[in-house]
Amino acid sequence: MYACVCFCVTEEEIQEEISAGANTEEELGERCGAGTSCGTCVERLGCLLEQARSRPCVDQTLAACPGACDAAALHQHQSVTTAA
Ligand code: FES
Repeated sequence: MYACVCFCVTEEEIQEEISAGANTEEELGERCGAGTSCGTCVERLGCLLEQARSRPCVDQTLAACPGACDAAALHQHQSVTTAA
């Protein structure tokens, strides 16, 4: 799934950049361009950063970026339910 359509950057690529040290939306933009054109994906990038920090998206953030956070919340839910 694309995290940034403008630059064809996938969520996996974003996660790789986060693993490589990107800590903010701005740093992600510097590394791969994500978020630096139309800006539509910036909130999604924030959710991916939150997810990577092991801080699940709260309801308020979830409402702000439904696509990425819904997927992240579902993944976390599945991880919890399958681990139990
Ligand atoms: S979708 Fe990422 S900058 Fe437009």
